[in-house]
Parts: sequence; C-alpha cells; structure tokens
Amino acid sequence: MSIVADATTRVLRSRFAAALATPHGVDRYLELVNPMWAANEVRARIVDITREVDVPGHPPVATITLQPTSTWRGHRAGQHVQLGVEVDGARRTTRVFTVSSPDSKAGDRFTITMRANPDGVVSRYLVERATVGTMVHLSQARGEFVLPDHVPDHVVFISGGSGITPVMSMLRSLQRRTHRGRVTFLHYAQSPDHQIFAAELEEIRRSGYGIDVHLLHPELGDPALSPAYLERLVPGYRDVPTWACGPAPLINAVHGAYDGSDALRVEYFKPPAVGNGNAEGDISFTRSGATAANSGATLLEQAEAAGLNPTFGCRMGICFSCTATKLEGTVRNVLTGETSSLPDEDIRICVSSPEGDCAVEL
Ligand SMILES: Cc1cc2nc3c(=O)[nH]c(=O)nc-3n(C[C@H](O)[C@H](O)[C@H](O)COP(=O)(O)OP(=O)(O)OC[C@H]3O[C@@H](n4cnc5c(N)ncnc54)[C@H](O)[C@@H]3O)c2cc1C
Ligand code: FES
Repeated sequence: MSIVADATTRVLRSRFAAALATPHGVDRYLELVNPMWAANEVRARIVDITREVDVPGHPPVATITLQPTSTWRGHRAGQHVQLGVEVDGARRTTRVFTVSSPDSKAGDRFTITMRANPDGVVSRYLVERATVGTMVHLSQARGEFVLPDHVPDHVVFISGGSGITPVMSMLRSLQRRTHRGRVTFLHYAQSPDHQIFAAELEEIRRSGYGIDVHLLHPELGDPALSPAYLERLVPGYRDVPTWACGPAPLINAVHGAYDGSDALRVEYFKPPAVGNGNAEGDISFTRSGATAANSGATLLEQAEAAGLNPTFGCRMGICFSCTATKLEGTVRNVLTGETSSLPDEDIRICVSSPEGDCAVEL
C-alpha cells in the first residue's frame, strides 16, 4: 500500500472518522461512493462463477471467485468465512463457506465452492442467481482446522462431497509451497460425475509428485472407509496426522477407524446429531407462547419443529446470529458437552440442547 493510501486508511479507521459518521459508520458512506471501498468491513465482488458439477436431477456445485476489498487480511488453508447476501431485498442472510483456494494474503482473490442446497437460501442464490459483479458481505477468515506451520512428512486428507473444500485448499497450498513430503488423499463421491474439482484431481493423480489421490465411489463398488482399507493404503495410519471433513456417516466411520487417536482433526459443516439422551421436561418459548415436549434436539431445531422461525447463520456455534436469552433451565453445548444452568443467560440455540425443563425467549 502506498504511503498516501496507508495514511487515508488510518484516518478512515480512526475514532474521529467514526464519530463524524455516527450513527451509520464510515463504511456505509464509502460503500455508497464505491462498493469496493471499505475502512473496516470486508466485502467482495464476484468476478467468476464456474459450475463444478451439474448432474441433471442433483443439486449443482459451483466455485465462485471473489475479489475482496483491501480490508481482507488473507486466510490459512482450511479456514472459512461468513458470507452475507441480501436476497430479494430481504435483510442480510449469512452462512459459512470454506475458502477452497490456497492460502491467501491481504487483498488477494480467493474462491469458495458450494453445493446448492435445494431448500436452502444462500447456497442456491449463489449458485443459481448471483452473477459476475454481485457484491457480498464477508467476515475475516476464521477457524482452527488448518495445517501447522511445519507440515509433517506424511499427511492424510479424507473428505466426502462438498467437505472437499478445506482439504482442497490445503492440498493446493502444499502444491504451491512445493511440499516435499507425502500426501494421501481419499475423497468419497456418489459417482465420477459428482466429483468436485475432477479435472484438477485427475491431473494431480497422474502427475504424482508424492500425492496419492484416491477418488472413491462406494455406491459403484469402490471400498468404503474402514480400518482395513486405511491400513492397506497407509500402514500405521492412526499415527499419521489426518484432516477429515464430510457428511456425518463418513465422519462417524473416520472416528471409528481412528479410535480416539489425537492424529485426527475433523471439521464439521453441521453439528453432529445429538441423541435424545436426557430428553425430559418441557420447553417453553416465552415470546411466542409456543411449548413443546423436549425432544433432546438443539433448541434451534426444537423451535423450528414448533413452527417458529428463529434467525440462524452457521448452525454450528460460529456466528452468534441465533443468540437468544435462556430464562431458566439447563442446556448442554452439543459440541463441547459443557452444561450451564445460569438464569437469564445468552446462549447460541443452534448448539444448545436442553436437559429437562427450559424456558427461552423466542
Ligand atoms: C465451518 C463450515 C464450513 C462450511 N463450508 C462449506 C463449503 O465449503 N461448501 C458448502 O457447500 N457448504 C459449506 N458449509 C455449509 C453452508 O454453511 C450452508 O449450511 C449450506 O450451504 C446451506 O445453506 P443455505 O443457506 O443454502 O441453506 P439453509 O437456508 O441454511 O437451509 C439448510 C437446510 O436447513 C433447513 N432449514 C432451513 N431453515 C429451516 C427451518 N426454519 N426449519 C427447518 N429446517 C430449516 C433447510 O430445509 C435446508 O435443508 C459450511 C458450514 C460450516 C459450519
Ligand atoms: S447460527 Fe451461528 S451461532 Fe448459531
């Protein structure tokens, strides 16, 4: 950044500028002049949309290339962003997407890759309706599902479906860094036609460079993930650092195969399903007056099942957009297992499962 641009940015980010722009904030005024100008917020313009998978009768998958504002600080392979869009003039809806391109630096272009959920708001909008030029709102990149600074000599990546995005970002970063170690990459898809990044993976598979790519389609007879299959590919795999991301059945199989090994790191796109362990008592949604017998699911799911429509973003405890006040009762965080019984407590209902009677302001 030039000295003049640097000084301008410092002024725009200052308390003085914020006070002048109150109550709307500096970024509201900059956005009106040019949507790509920002002092604090991150926004991006879509500069390319490429269909990755387009099988008739199945949800399409697309990769979207984003040119972020200069406020983007870059990402580490495996991290995700919160992306917000205003669909048909409705208030902003935010969802989480993993960056699929390799590590980026401040201001760099990057890609996200998503499957259009047939009942979904944001993924369908991005894949089917957004065009080159559409602006989106972003957070900075977040997440701990990343490679360490010193990458081990041998790493294993396991992914299924759209869960390929974080490990593809890692694989691309390792290629860019000309990693000299070995990578074993197993990806599960319904069929070769459903394979995301098919041409690039085929090219990597053929060229070798220490990367063993196994594109697997168990519905067509390929081996499903099992300890025996992993042992055959990677002898002693339980001690080899492994990154896994995919649908719940695949991740359950991975957990079973690694049997508590701390070499395994897992990323979830959805919280793991909770059993209805201590599903006693009644839930009362105090603002709407709705009540329900506690099913043991998260409060977000129980509210939706009761016909309510609470705001949500990530459904994974990341974005806080579902925060509501629990007036009384005990809730368990389905990701960490921690319980809390404080009255008048702000909780993220997407990852909170009630234990016994519970009253929430919804
Ligand atoms: C860390 C992380 C990384 C992710 N990375 C990616 C990625 O790289 N690529 C990718 O494709 N996805 C990714 N996801 C998933 C993504 O964030 C979205 O969940 C997904 O795209 C669906 O969003 P949507 O707005 O299209 O659908 P939504 O509108 O959220 O709908 C999703 C589902 O929830 C149901 N639902 C919505 N509202 C209700 C309601 N009121 N009552 C009952 N059910 C309801 C819908 O029926 C639908 O089946 C990631 C998620 C996380 C947490
Ligand atoms: S929806 Fe994001 S924290 Fe609950």
